[in-house]
Amino acid sequence: MTKALVTGCAGFIGSHLTQRLLNDGVTVIGIDGFVDNYDVAAKLRNLAEIGSHPAFTFHSTMLQAERWNDWLDQVDVVYHLAALPGVRNSWGKAFSEYVSHNILATQLLLEACLQRPKPPVIVVSSSSSVYGTMQGTLTDESAPLRPVSPYGVTKEAMEQVCSVYVKAFGLPITMLRYFTVYGPRQRPDMAFHRFFRQMMKGDPVVIYGDGQQSRDFTYVTDAVEANILAGRHAAPGEIFNVGGNREIKLIDVLTIMGTLLNTTPNIRFQPGPAGDSQRTCADIRLAEQRLGYRPQVSLEEGLRRQLADMRFQLRS
Ligand code: UGA
Repeated sequence: MTKALVTGCAGFIGSHLTQRLLNDGVTVIGIDGFVDNYDVAAKLRNLAEIGSHPAFTFHSTMLQAERWNDWLDQVDVVYHLAALPGVRNSWGKAFSEYVSHNILATQLLLEACLQRPKPPVIVVSSSSSVYGTMQGTLTDESAPLRPVSPYGVTKEAMEQVCSVYVKAFGLPITMLRYFTVYGPRQRPDMAFHRFFRQMMKGDPVVIYGDGQQSRDFTYVTDAVEANILAGRHAAPGEIFNVGGNREIKLIDVLTIMGTLLNTTPNIRFQPGPAGDSQRTCADIRLAEQRLGYRPQVSLEEGLRRQLADMRFQLRS
């Protein structure tokens, strides 16, 4: 691959992916609309390390803008990460924004790709939120989709839109269902970012519910690797779980964090927000077999790296 387009390049996962592609010698066009879901300064910091790379061109714009012909010229792979993320804020009036950014904008991107003489491969970011709360053993990609949040509904609908473009036009789209990604530059609304910040300030750590909910946390460079592998090897219409290969309860993560910070967290339990899944646990065998995906970074190591990054950001 010589040229890629990354939507959402200033975001958490998008900035890591952009950096990786540039390191691999790929020319990257990055698009980011700086959707107002958190501090723009944090997104600008995400871009800081890559912004001056000679093989990187950046466009600060929403996907709804109409310059696709310029952007998609000679692009081999589109990595579509732009979205309005976050489960807990997707209720109420916000829902229309979620629909706009996660469904409508994706459809515009697909239409633009379809107009190309040779459409690029499109790797689309989806979410474990499409499953809702998981039951039984590991969840594979054929499990029923029963989202428990409006956000999960928009991600499911986005997948359906992608699937009809595959079926009708053979558009080479693949979808990745990420399981709660963490690591340096994690979004400030997400659990690990909030917990580390609260512990470093000596504030109580606020846990929603009883802390018994579990997640299959995925380190950010593993999610990036899944994108690279999908761009190379996936067939049109394929969907893959991208998990960390270890389910752990939230309360047990806090013990690891406490050890890293050499402190005992002062935990405050409060009622959980609507839409929170009680359990996620990914069966990643399909991604292993089809893509050669294998998570590389343990939770302990990933947390250490996220903490180091947060300490660095606080100092600078
Ligand atoms: C995350 C992302 O925010 C979604 O965008 C993504 O699609 C989803 O992962 C996914 O993988 O599908 P979530 O699992 O809620 O959603 O991730 P966190 O925000 O890191 O929360 C993890 C758990 O910690 C949740 O049970 C949440 O309720 C809890 N939490 C979060 C707290 O107890 N306290 C907090 O301050 C924040």
